[in-house]
Amino acid sequence: MTIRIAGIGTSLPAKVVTNHDLAQHMDTSDEWIRERSGIGERRVGGITSEMALEAATNAIEKAGVVPADIEFVLLATCTPDQIFPATSTQIARGLGIRCGSMDVNAACAGFAYGYAAAYGMMLSPGGPDRMLVIGADSLSNFVNWTDRGTAILFGDGAGAAVLERHEQGALLGQDFGVAGDLREILYCDHDDTIVMEGREVFKRAVRAVTQSVQNALEQAGLTAADIDVVLPHQANIRIIEAVCTRLAIPMEKTHNVLEHTGNTSAGSIPLAMAAAEEAGALQPGTIVVMTGFGAGMAWGSVVVRW
Ligand code: ACO
Repeated sequence: MTIRIAGIGTSLPAKVVTNHDLAQHMDTSDEWIRERSGIGERRVGGITSEMALEAATNAIEKAGVVPADIEFVLLATCTPDQIFPATSTQIARGLGIRCGSMDVNAACAGFAYGYAAAYGMMLSPGGPDRMLVIGADSLSNFVNWTDRGTAILFGDGAGAAVLERHEQGALLGQDFGVAGDLREILYCDHDDTIVMEGREVFKRAVRAVTQSVQNALEQAGLTAADIDVVLPHQANIRIIEAVCTRLAIPMEKTHNVLEHTGNTSAGSIPLAMAAAEEAGALQPGTIVVMTGFGAGMAWGSVVVRW
C-alpha cells in the first residue's frame, strides 16, 4: 500500500496588482519585471487561514470525500495568522473536524517538506489513512511596497492536496537540505518586511535546486530523462529555466503559474500542480518532481509516481 494524491484545490485572493500598477509608484516597468522574472501580476490581501481553508475545501470536494474523512491537517506556511495557535488548527475548525494538525515552516520549499512528512506519517503504524497537505502564504502583508527589489516578486495564494492510502502512486525519492549560514540573504523579522539579496538568492537557488533534484532522482534510481512533469517553486522563470538547462529537462515539462500569481511561497508548488492537472499532465504512472527553495536557505525535492 502506498499513497496517492486524490484531489487538488486552490485559492487566490480577489485583488490583482499588475506590473503596471506597481510602475505607478516605483521606478520599474512591466517590461523589466516580465523579462527578469516572468511575472505579470500577483494577488494580494490574502489571509493565510482563509485561503488555506478554501483550497482545502476544494481539494476535499475533488477527492470525492467529506471533511470527516480527513484524519490530519498539515499546513506548510511561513505566514501563519498568529504566533499561536497553529494556523492548521483553524483549518480543522473551519472544516468542522477534530483531528491532528500541525504547521510546517520551510518557507517556499514548505509543500515538498509537508508532502514527504505526510507520506511518512501515513505509512507509520497507526498513521492517518487520509491527510490534507496544504501550502499557503500571504507574503503581500510582509512586503515593503516601496522596495522594487522585492515588491515585484511576491503574492498570496494557496494550494491543497488530499493524500490517501492507495495502490496507485508512490514517493520514489526525496532530498532535503538547509544552509542556515545563509539566513542573512533572505529573512523577515517579526513586525517587519522581507529583506532579500536577490542576486545572491538567485545564484544559490539554481545551484541548490539542481543538486537537490539530482539527489532525489538518484535515490529513486531514475535520471532526468525519466521525468514527465516538473512542479517547481514559482519564484522566477529564469531560475526554472536555468535549472532545466543544467538538468537537460525541456521547459515544456514544467508547469508554471507565476505569470499570474508571482511568488506565493508555500502555495506555489500545489498551484503549479493544479495547473498540471488542468492540462491533463498528471496521469497514473506519470513521474513528477516537486522542488522548492526559499528562506533558510531551505530546499527540498520529491520524486513521485502519480
Ligand atoms: N525594476 C527596474 N529595475 C530594477 C528593479 C526593478 N524592479 N529591480 C532591480 N533593478 C535594477 C537594479 O538596480 C540593477 O540596476 P544597475 O545594473 O543599474 O545596478 C539592475 O536592475 C539589475 O539588478 P539585479 O538585482 O542584478 O537584477 P536581477 O536580474 O538579479 O533580478 C530579481 C532581480 C528579479 C530580484 C532576481 O535577482 C531574483 O528573482 N532573485 C531570486 C529571488 C527569489 O527567488 N526570492 C524568493 C525566494 S523564496 C522565499 O523563501 C520567500
